[in-house]
Amino acid sequence: MNDHDIISEVRSKVDIVEVISSYLPLVQKGKNFFGVCPFHDDTNPSMSVSRELQIYRCFSCGASGNVFQFVMDYEHISFREALEMLAKRAGVAITGLHVKSTPSENEPYYEIYELAQKFYQNNLTTKEGRYARDYLKNRQIDDEMIKEFGIGLSLDKADTLVQLLKKKKYDLKTLNLIGLASQDHDTYIKRIMFPLQDLSGKVVGFSGRIYDNSNTNKYLNTKETPIFKKGQLLYHYASCKEEVRQKHFVLVMEGFMDVIRASTTGLRNTVALMGTAMTKEQANLIKRLSNQIVLCFDGDDAGRHATLVNGEQFVQLGLNPRVVALEDDDDPDTYILKYGKERFLGLVENAISFQDYKIKSLKQGVNFNSPVEKAAYINQVLVETSKIKDEIEREIILKNLANECDIGYNTLEKRLLSLLPSEMPTEQRESTFLKEEKKTSHLDKYTFSERAILYYMLKDDKVVYQYEKSGIYFPDHQARYLASEISYYYKKYGIMNIADFYTYLSDKSELVHLLSNVLADELPDVDRSVIQDYFQVIHEYNRNQEIKRLQKMILEEVDPLAKAKLGERIRKLKMGSEENAK
Ligand code: CTP
Ligand code: MN
Repeated sequence: MNDHDIISEVRSKVDIVEVISSYLPLVQKGKNFFGVCPFHDDTNPSMSVSRELQIYRCFSCGASGNVFQFVMDYEHISFREALEMLAKRAGVAITGLHVKSTPSENEPYYEIYELAQKFYQNNLTTKEGRYARDYLKNRQIDDEMIKEFGIGLSLDKADTLVQLLKKKKYDLKTLNLIGLASQDHDTYIKRIMFPLQDLSGKVVGFSGRIYDNSNTNKYLNTKETPIFKKGQLLYHYASCKEEVRQKHFVLVMEGFMDVIRASTTGLRNTVALMGTAMTKEQANLIKRLSNQIVLCFDGDDAGRHATLVNGEQFVQLGLNPRVVALEDDDDPDTYILKYGKERFLGLVENAISFQDYKIKSLKQGVNFNSPVEKAAYINQVLVETSKIKDEIEREIILKNLANECDIGYNTLEKRLLSLLPSEMPTEQRESTFLKEEKKTSHLDKYTFSERAILYYMLKDDKVVYQYEKSGIYFPDHQARYLASEISYYYKKYGIMNIADFYTYLSDKSELVHLLSNVLADELPDVDRSVIQDYFQVIHEYNRNQEIKRLQKMILEEVDPLAKAKLGERIRKLKMGSEENAK
């Protein structure tokens, strides 16, 4: 079998609806399935999935493609990796395949990091690793954890890694560029090395921790490099995906030591932000992992602040995160060491809603003897309560507030009611959704005809033949390009399969986009005469363009005879179009 056949077999043996359902909930509506698009910020079900065509499309952000594209974009993996994943799922052997993972110019950097990672890991087992091993032992990080998290050691020498890599023919400039060397020295000297991986699990950086009382930064992290973008990755992201899927929630923490420690409680559905403020990309990555998010930050002021800020960011993304609030001096790592696994699991189990957390935190520092402060507090709580969807939860909070502040329940309820957003009726919500869906229908008649022809070409090779014979010239050059690809595809494979055609077009994103727009509105089965009319519209467009061109030439022409000839041509063209109009 050739590549095309193997790829097509894998694709046809998995159902796109089933595959996408394993990532996010889909609801059937008519012939198609709908879900919340994972590729942009949204809470509406803007993504439609067609079982018939085996493709998906988001009406809002335009993301579209077949099952391979979905898995590639969702998992941040290459075509080859997506193919392997789906082949496994379909039980298809793909040995002998020529498709390689897209070779990238960063490939050598990954190789270097792989070597560095092996080197650091090995150092920890040598005689020179003795003190580092003692440190890890003291922190109760055992061999299994060392292995699972790839922990290593950079030596107390100036340039061992640099020398090793130079011997492997990597130049110093590259090593500086990717953060492993500083001038002619190793960047990391005498630190415990924690590898940092990109979204697909490749090592792209390190965080190095001191392990004696050196008077220097506790952690030294890789700077921004072509392959290490701190704001676009999360510690433990690639390794947690399967666990998140099984446990149905993701636990977000501050430090990678917290993630490592949490693994001893059996929780591996964890990621760490690594100290910095959460970026928008990171928030979206987490959202993509799961819509059930539990925040478990350090118990200090910084951790409380991070909980409020990051929690709010998830609320903005339409989620209701939950919160584990630790006591002042604890972080998840120390908490687990102090109180043990069961108690930590209990905390996570009983995580409170973010709104609840926020309301509790409003209370801090309020002087209840001051009527002004007390009233301000009550108002803030009511504003927050108004954001809670659950009526019972709202009532509980109101009752507590009434007791706590000695205010009549009815007074509070009246105020709360005035704050509640008036519910948008479901019909209205649906109609905005449908409006988006129908956006493509407001096309001018030329664009509409062009797309209709493309649509029928995809459905019927006779229309392709008709197109080739017609000599029409689509107004839009992408449409012309797509038409020629459709006709080439028919010639090559004899039959059109839309989902396979997506694979065929995959490196031409403009065409993929157009193809999705063409397929967005299902057109009825019609007879030849209707399709002929679409051709006629384009003919007419081509003729008008030609007339315009000739008219321009007449203006520029000085020879009276040539002018007359041009005039005659225009007259004939115009007559032709009137003929057709009759
Ligand atoms: N961090 C950093 N540089 C520092 C301190 C912290 O890059 N000087 C990052 C690290 O990624 C760390 C995270 O911020 O994982 C959380 O910081 P902190 O809570 O101080 O780290 P801990 O997990 O408590 O580390 P340890 O227990 O080893 O002190
Ligand atoms: Mn710590």
